[in-house]
Amino acid sequence: MGLFRKLSKPFILLFVVTWDFGLFLLNVILPARKAGHVVPAGAPGHALNWPAYEPPTPTDSRSSCKGLAAFLRETRSLTPLMIQGPMLNALANHNILPHSGRGISFRTLNTTVRQCFNFAPSFCFFVPHFAADFLERSYWRDSFDLEELSKHNAIEHDASLTRRDAALEPNQSKPDIQLVEQLLASATGGTPEARLLTKKDLSAMLSRRRVESRRENEAYSEDRFHNGFGSAK
Ligand code: HEM
Ligand SMILES: *[C@@H]1O[C@H](CO)[C@@H](O)[C@H](O)[C@H]1NC(C)=O
Ligand SMILES: *[C@@H]1O[C@H](CO)[C@@H](O)[C@H](O)[C@H]1NC(C)=O
Repeated sequence: MGLFRKLSKPFILLFVVTWDFGLFLLNVILPARKAGHVVPAGAPGHALNWPAYEPPTPTDSRSSCKGLAAFLRETRSLTPLMIQGPMLNALANHNILPHSGRGISFRTLNTTVRQCFNFAPSFCFFVPHFAADFLERSYWRDSFDLEELSKHNAIEHDASLTRRDAALEPNQSKPDIQLVEQLLASATGGTPEARLLTKKDLSAMLSRRRVESRRENEAYSEDRFHNGFGSAK
């Protein structure tokens, strides 16, 4: 099975890249969806009705994934969800993924991210599939706990916007309050009442974090893959 997974990897990559490029072309031609019409009927968040926030308990599993509203075109439709706490963890905190953060199938992750964030189906397949690969499990049959996604230098990498590096803070499910506040304070977009992080703000903060991490973390690493991953956010 391990061998099959290894051999199939380049084919899956080629397939996803081609698929994604096709979607990119379609996106250029097709009109954008209106706010309130992004999440399909029957899925949580449809017509801007997001399930309520319920804070995690000490035994709940959480990941190092924290999306920020500013990353998304449909910011308006996502605001109620994102204000309370970002991405994969937010989905669990709002009971859209299981609140325990445990026993989530890779396929559920695809469906949930696709419905809630309207991310490309290529991304929603590729990233959970990538996670299944580094956890040495099957995308089609297996499950994971949110904290397992934080394996160092798989997706999780140094110089993140919201967490100290793994060498300094082994618990990567834990956001660093100082970093989060510094990030939010750097927002220059939106209005004074509802400020937004712009792409420029995010990119400036990322540069700052890379300089800072290099200085404070002796074990700092930044290979091309993770540089790309970090910059894509
Ligand atoms: C589909 C499955 C996804 C998986 C498996 C996943 C996993 C992860 C992981 C492991 C990290 C930590 C990387 C680091 O060290 O900074 C991360 C970070 C992040 N994720 Fe996700 N993610 C997913 C989807 C998303 C989506 C849809 C969004 C946007 C809505 C998002 C937004 C972010 C952001 C902004 C960060 C950076 C946090 C920081 O720099 O501190 N992720 N994700
Ligand atoms: C991913 O989720 C979407 C939305 O539920 C579904 O249509 C699609 O078949 C799923 N793809 C895979 C590869 O699991
Ligand atoms: C890691 O941090 C999270 C979030 O603060 C917390 O819920 C969890 O209990 C911590 N895990 C460990 C092993 O300390």
